[in-house]
Amino acid sequence: MPIDFYSRLVNASGVYTFRDFVLLPGRSDVEPSNVDLSVQLTKSVTLNLPLVSSPMDTVTEADLAIALARQGGIGIIHRNMPIEEQVENAKRVKRAESFIIRDVVTIGPSDRVSDAFELMQRKSISGLPVVGSDERLTGILTKRDVNFADANEIVGNVMTKEVVFAGPEVTIEEAKKIMHKQKIEKLPVVDRDKKLLGLVTIKDVYSRERFPFAARDTQGRLLVGAAVSPHDVERAKALEKYVDVLVSDVAHFHNVNVLESARKLTKEVSTEFIAGNIGTIEGTRDTIEALDGRVAGIRAGVGSGSICVTSEVTKAGAPTLFAVSQIAVALQEVGVSIPIIADGGIRAAGDGALALAAGASAVMMGNVFAGCTESPGGLIKIGGKYYKPYRGMGSSTSRQKRFAMDRYSQPAKGIAEGVEGVVPYRGDVQTVVEEFSAGLRASFGYAGATSIKDLWTKAKFGAVTAAGIDELRPHSIILPGEEKI
Ligand code: XMP
Repeated sequence: MPIDFYSRLVNASGVYTFRDFVLLPGRSDVEPSNVDLSVQLTKSVTLNLPLVSSPMDTVTEADLAIALARQGGIGIIHRNMPIEEQVENAKRVKRAESFIIRDVVTIGPSDRVSDAFELMQRKSISGLPVVGSDERLTGILTKRDVNFADANEIVGNVMTKEVVFAGPEVTIEEAKKIMHKQKIEKLPVVDRDKKLLGLVTIKDVYSRERFPFAARDTQGRLLVGAAVSPHDVERAKALEKYVDVLVSDVAHFHNVNVLESARKLTKEVSTEFIAGNIGTIEGTRDTIEALDGRVAGIRAGVGSGSICVTSEVTKAGAPTLFAVSQIAVALQEVGVSIPIIADGGIRAAGDGALALAAGASAVMMGNVFAGCTESPGGLIKIGGKYYKPYRGMGSSTSRQKRFAMDRYSQPAKGIAEGVEGVVPYRGDVQTVVEEFSAGLRASFGYAGATSIKDLWTKAKFGAVTAAGIDELRPHSIILPGEEKI
């Protein structure tokens, strides 16, 4: 068969991007406040907002993941660091506000008060359950007990012996009631034999009330994900106990070596695995087949990221909106329902709404979150304005750390596939997320959709012409700061 070079070129299908479309206003009785933005990121991970932060070294470490999960989304800890450091970041998120702290710092009854004092200082805690060698709770030692005691005294002589405690089934409301009634700030949780199981602190109880929409696991801890290379089973195994989801972090998942590694990795770890990135129907089919039922989600989009030069350098790419629709089509064909995460190129809520309308369950953003207070890196002042650093994981400075070198394909290792720069400082995650979700709710209101699934069925797209791109944003007006005298 001769190759039809001509038709292949001139009949190529369009690869559409966010700026090519609008959501057509539909018949609606939906007010933004009635929109439910909660979603399954995977079968077992439920988010209250469809927002995921990119695993990038200028975007997601523990602080940003904590802040985002408190708002209802999830952060994916980047992997451009040693395994232990990534695990520690995940643990920090899990420790941030668990209702019952499980790895409690304790002291023994025969230890010295000076040891207890030093431990409290070092760990910044104000009270220690006192536990004997049989692991049973024998007392509690507070800062007050320590402050008025001789440093050489033994703990057993100065601790409070009458300890108020709760059983393993205690609920947050019950714990709060007990603590209020007894005027205590720490409530040890014990089993039938009085062996210490955990500790509830009043600080954590209040924190839960401050963030009622937080995305939590079944133990009340904040949700967190971690990026892994499909080739790195060791990292995946080290992380699996501490994260709710593992997220593949390669630019081209539809590569036979990557698929084969991912197949092996998903057999070895039990935590759900999000595959990606892919952007075509064939890529989806091959992913489903290779992973044989072990795909919990799919990261969609190749080359759309604001820091990407992949498509510029290699001319390979599947823009995010196009990628989402391709994957959605393929999943329907195969007859499986797997959440899609639109990844790259999302600048504002409108792009997010388009991605969801095209079939995504959530959006992943790097640029937007890089500008937040909680992302790694300090503020940079340029010409009286504040910025934060942001760089692609394929940029030359990111690649110098080498842990994420394999994000890009073997021959491309010699060239950078990302750029480095700064993004405007946007404020804290809470402010940014509130603004973004208000925008999403407004879009849903125009489309007449009350939920993400409802949007999938009701959304109608309008294709924008080149002239329209200009008209559909502020024009014919000089905005503050743009005046030229
Ligand atoms: P935004 O648009 O939010 O996109 O900045 C973030 C996403 O971009 C991807 N990413 C890269 N892609 N070269 C690329 O081609 C890079 O250096 C690079 N770093 C990140 C990634 O999918 C991320 O979530």
